Amino acid sequence: MQARTRWRIAVAPGDGVGREVMPAALTALQQLMRDDGPRLQLTELEWPATAYHREHGRMMPEEWRTRLADFDVLLLGALGDPGPSSDAKRYRLPDAVSLAPILAIRQGFDQWVCERPAISLEGAPRYLADERAGAIDMLVIRENSEGEYIGQGGRTAPGTGHEVATQVEVFTRFATERLFRHAFQRARQRREERAAGRRALRFGMQDRADAQVCLVTKRNALRHWGEMYTEIFAEVAADYPDIDTHHELVDAACMKFVTSPWRFDVVVASNLQGDILTDLAAVLCGGLGVAPSCNLNPSKRHVPPMFEPTHGSAPDIAGKDLADPRAMLLTTAMMLDWMGEEDVSASKAARRLRQAIEVDLREHQGEIRHGSAIADSILERIGG
Ligand code: IPM
Ligand code: MN
Repeated sequence: MQARTRWRIAVAPGDGVGREVMPAALTALQQLMRDDGPRLQLTELEWPATAYHREHGRMMPEEWRTRLADFDVLLLGALGDPGPSSDAKRYRLPDAVSLAPILAIRQGFDQWVCERPAISLEGAPRYLADERAGAIDMLVIRENSEGEYIGQGGRTAPGTGHEVATQVEVFTRFATERLFRHAFQRARQRREERAAGRRALRFGMQDRADAQVCLVTKRNALRHWGEMYTEIFAEVAADYPDIDTHHELVDAACMKFVTSPWRFDVVVASNLQGDILTDLAAVLCGGLGVAPSCNLNPSKRHVPPMFEPTHGSAPDIAGKDLADPRAMLLTTAMMLDWMGEEDVSASKAARRLRQAIEVDLREHQGEIRHGSAIADSILERIGG
């Protein structure tokens, strides 16, 4: 496949604070395009969104899959309750309806890995007192195509005394093996970046290996998939003898994320356990306001990936100019990094954007600012 140097980007602000943080990302991309920047064609979509549902009775058009397949990449704000929650009359949908597009897009494009880096940034809120919390640099890799999110099950006799609900978890060897291989590849890549000085922070295990993948399961209680995960992990690890391996039960992982997060490098977890761990990992590094995320199909780069911050639509703060745009902007930088694997001008743009965010964080540590003030100062720094 030929490397791309022109990018068609579908931009979907979505709901709630997604609509407040996306304009900053759009302006940043427009600024970064100028001069010799990457060639980006930005198309704003009014779906998926609750406002679209209000008009059309569905979150996305029926032909959403073919429409989105025309893009190289999707950039999503957030979905869910449109907020603000003080407005009792807002048009609300059940979560299962308003959030369904996220799962449909992840599964529809087989975006089988969700990557959520948790990196301490100087100036970001710090909730851990230990000074080593300044050296957190982990990548949580979440299974994104099956597991607890497969959507099988149902309810019988709803509302009666005999009601039964089932929610089936599905784990396949195929999806597990590709996920673990990806995790080991990322561990190697991160080690190379550290060696080349492109990744400033070490992960705090100098006394041990220089790269590690930690598997998370709940195999002491959920033994069937837990044991399969453990076996496949060992098989894949045998192909990467240079990478240290480790296992944590998910409850113990939560504890260790808080007591010594700097000891983790790459962490790989199931869909639901990865979901929970990544909110925790986000808060260790300053909270959801600075936590980026992406959904990728590494085996098929021409299937569009979806970049979306870890945070949701946050109806409690929507409409108040309180949403921090930096998670959206860091997510946008991740998108440019992904493009940068084919297009150097996108890599350069990613560096410029990330630097503007990092300098802003350092210069305004501890200040409480409106979302628009944060956006303005970062955009001004990017210039162009
Ligand atoms: C996330 C979100 C989603 C998830 C919800 C909105 C379905 O929490 O991206 O982490 O659980 O995957
Ligand atoms: Mn989540």
